[in-house]
Order: sequence, then C-alpha cells, then structure tokens
Amino acid sequence: MTPVLQTIRKAVFPAAGLGTRFLPATKAQAKEMLPLIDKPIIQYGVEEALASGLDHVVLVTGQGKHAIEDHFNVDVELETLLESRGKTDLLADIRSVPCPASVAAVQQNEPLGLGHAVLVARELVGDEPFVVILSDDVIDANPPAVQQLINVYERLEDPVLAVERVPADQVSSYGVISGEPVPGEDGVYRIRDVVEKPPKEDAPSDLAIIGRYVLTPDIFPILESTPRDTRGEIQLTDGLRRLLAHRPLYACQIDGVRHDTGSKSGFLRATAYFALKRPDLAETFRRYLRTLGVGTDD
Ligand code: UTP
Repeated sequence: MTPVLQTIRKAVFPAAGLGTRFLPATKAQAKEMLPLIDKPIIQYGVEEALASGLDHVVLVTGQGKHAIEDHFNVDVELETLLESRGKTDLLADIRSVPCPASVAAVQQNEPLGLGHAVLVARELVGDEPFVVILSDDVIDANPPAVQQLINVYERLEDPVLAVERVPADQVSSYGVISGEPVPGEDGVYRIRDVVEKPPKEDAPSDLAIIGRYVLTPDIFPILESTPRDTRGEIQLTDGLRRLLAHRPLYACQIDGVRHDTGSKSGFLRATAYFALKRPDLAETFRRYLRTLGVGTDD
C-alpha cells in the first residue's frame, strides 16, 4: 500500500536575522515588525499561511525580540481599555490580526544563518512536512504563493522551493537553481543543482530561490551535519543541495507579485504597491504622487 501523504499544518517563520539593512530601525526590533502601511510585515506572511490552510505558526525569533509573539497574542488589557472607552472601530482593528490555532516561538540565540534558524525549529515541527516563509518576501498572489507550492507538493510528494526569474545582474544576491521542466507541470522544474549567490558569469540560470519552501523533516539531520560557510553560518541552500543526493527536489515559479521588503527600495515599492491597492488610501495617495510629478491619470 502506498503511504498516505501527510497534510502540511505548520509554517515556520525565521525572523532572527540582524536586519542590518534597516539599522537603526532594527536595533531593538525585528525587521519583520516594521509596518507595511498598517500591518507588520510578518502579518502578511501569517495571513498567507492561514489562507493556504496552515494554522500552526512557528516563530524563530532573535534574542530579546518578543514583539512578534506578542503581536499574535490577544492583548486583554488593551481590548478591555478600548471596550471601556467605546472604541469599537479600534477594537475591530486589533481583532483583525490573524489568529492561528497555535503560535509557538523558539529563540535562535545567535544568527548563525537561515539553515540554522530552520534547524532551531526542529522540536516544534516534529516529524512532519512543513512550510518555511521568509516574511520579508511579501507576495501578492491568488492562489497564495504557499498554496501554489503545496499544490505541487501534493502531486509530486517531494520538497518544493519557490523560484522567480530575476535579471542577470541580480542573480548574485540569491540561491539559484538549475533543472529541467517537469512534463505536464507548468512552471515546475526538477532541480539538478542549487548554488548560493553565484557570480553572474557562473549562474546556472536566472531562476532565483525566493522566500517560500515546502520541506520534509529529513532536512533536519542534514542541516545538523551541514558545515558552516566561510562566515560561520549554516546556509539552507547548502542543506538543500545535500538533500538532493537523497531525494528529488522541485522548484515552482510563483504566479504573483513579490516585493523584497528586506531592502529599502523593495520596502518602499511594497508600500506604494499596497497603498495603491487599498480603497481607503489609493485615491489620496495617487493624488499626492501626482503633486510629486509621478503617476498618471489612468
Ligand atoms: P536575510 O538574508 O534577509 O538577513 O535573512 P537579515 O539578517 O534578516 O537582514 P540583513 O541582510 O542583515 O539586512 C533572510 C531571512 O532569514 C532570517 C531573517 O530573519 C530573514 O527572515 N534569518 C537569517 C534568521 O532567522 N536567522 C539567521 O541567522 C539569518
């Protein structure tokens, strides 16, 4: 009998990076808590997980950065205060924060790389497939990006990484895959190799890994024995490359709009993009852009 494919229930959010590109804003808070319009960046990722049917959230946080956990917990004192003052609209705002079935957090004591951050979540994930969401990649997609990956996982039953075609001069900022298209699967590739941040001349393709992964628990022992790189970090890409020796890995091109809010220009673009999609802001914001000499009437 073929084993039944385990349903994916858990989403891991590594959020323990130093966020150096946003210093000093990230001196005492995680970059995942910077607000994109009126929601912290990580809330977009949690909403995507919930919309994809995942209702157990695992946060990997840095030292002393408890605000993320607090954001997804009910603040009884604040709710009572707003209630006593009759501020029902504000109550509705704070109650709109998504409420997963469980939110668990584990601390990565030192930022030893993304691979290490995933490894730190091992106990909370257990022996089941899971999703990793790097919430600084905010993706506007329908179906949600995570759902697109899960759909491929359910058909092919092996780990799936999200990829996007990037301009040649940007490949050196990403993990890049080489692979062959999977017949009958639009935008899906069977991965032959993964290279972390290759120089433009050596990049095997323009398919860059972006911040969404469906992984299986056999990645954990592999990450545990993955050597640190020259910066002393355990890279997830190195672990995935080693996993390739044991099982197939797939890449899925995401149909959607991605913003890298971990960079200043990506953050600004995302702010403009979402402001222009918001019925309560679009018109005034567009009018303001016109006063700056940008934007058109259509
Ligand atoms: P980045 O490569 O964007 O690094 O991490 P960073 O430290 O967050 O930001 P910069 O480059 O210094 O500005 C990608 C993701 O991996 C997480 C980050 O929080 C982010 O979600 N991460 C990275 C960890 O959780 N732990 C680490 O040790 C490294």
